[in-house]
Amino acid sequence: MNQTVPLETNSQIQVQVPSHPQWPTMTREETENLKNRIRDLLKAQDAVLVAHYYTDPELQILAEGSGGCVADSLEMARFGSEQSSRTLVVCGVRFMGETAKILNPEKRVLMPDLNATCSLDEGCPEKAFSDFCDQHPDHTVVVYANTSAAVKARSDWVVTSGIALPIVKHLAERGEKILWAPDKHLGRYVQSLTGADMLLWQGSCVVHEEFKSVALERIRRLHPDAAVLVHPESPESVIELADVVGSTTTLIRAVSKMDNQEFIVATDGGIFHKMQQLAPGKVLIEAPTAGEGATCHSCAHCPWMGMNALQNLEQVLLNGENEISIESAVQEKAVIPIRRMLDFAKSRGVGMKNRGNA
Ligand code: 13P
Ligand code: SF4
Repeated sequence: MNQTVPLETNSQIQVQVPSHPQWPTMTREETENLKNRIRDLLKAQDAVLVAHYYTDPELQILAEGSGGCVADSLEMARFGSEQSSRTLVVCGVRFMGETAKILNPEKRVLMPDLNATCSLDEGCPEKAFSDFCDQHPDHTVVVYANTSAAVKARSDWVVTSGIALPIVKHLAERGEKILWAPDKHLGRYVQSLTGADMLLWQGSCVVHEEFKSVALERIRRLHPDAAVLVHPESPESVIELADVVGSTTTLIRAVSKMDNQEFIVATDGGIFHKMQQLAPGKVLIEAPTAGEGATCHSCAHCPWMGMNALQNLEQVLLNGENEISIESAVQEKAVIPIRRMLDFAKSRGVGMKNRGNA
């Protein structure tokens, strides 16, 4: 197996991070009435909700209660393509909606807010990425799902955090050199476990980048029996302190399966809803971030995931706006590496049934 040192690109792309959206507070009765209206609209429009674990708990409850799903990004892609409904409503970030549309071009795919993007996607523009690929034509191009449709169209493989390791291991065993984008932390982590020969794009997630190892060590000393759960978009020094590193599904599963009673969790706080639901007796502690105040850089909650709410979900179902559209030439190319990932996952039984009950 190759053991080369990863080279780095010099990409320094600035990403604009919005402030965290503030939604008007609703009473319990108002919330339930709104959910009932959305349920009726979903039924009337033959629509299914596909939500990510980082979204508002009310959306997660509604998605599961109305025949949709709550899942990680791998399972969201698979679930969407198994539905016979005419419309998919994706509550998550834009790459998740685009993946649903790429896999299901005949369906109508709506999102509560099309501005719900992702710092990894924003930090990997198609032109710069394409130039990078052109400079390394002997490399297999592996891109994280958190990218635009155009970047996926330029790739050989798409991966999510739930399947990156076995896919890169498989490619490394075949002696392939890998050009990896955009998340440098996930890329470095995968490289360290597989020994793959990887060129890394220098993107990062603004949410996970904020977890800090010194503060995490301090909290761990206060909770010596707690298991530390870390999403691999976090920096290396944080990953090094982890008892479990993995996709959102892996982290949720760890809370219900491990004997520990306490968990320090280094990922977006939206995941706590599902963890609490599956393991109500366990104590969940947020891993510390850089900021003292809850700025959108330091609150450990993705500002783009926060753009999904019951209010704008009802609006898109009423007005049919925010439909995802992908140029057919891009869709035809991008579907190939996504299908390759799903076929690989199926052949290895990776991540099967990773939805709802994790
Ligand atoms: P998962 O695929 O693990 O759900 O991660 C998606 C994501 O955007 C994490 O920040
Ligand atoms: Fe992107 Fe990070 Fe938000 Fe996930 S948490 S969608 S990687 S910005």
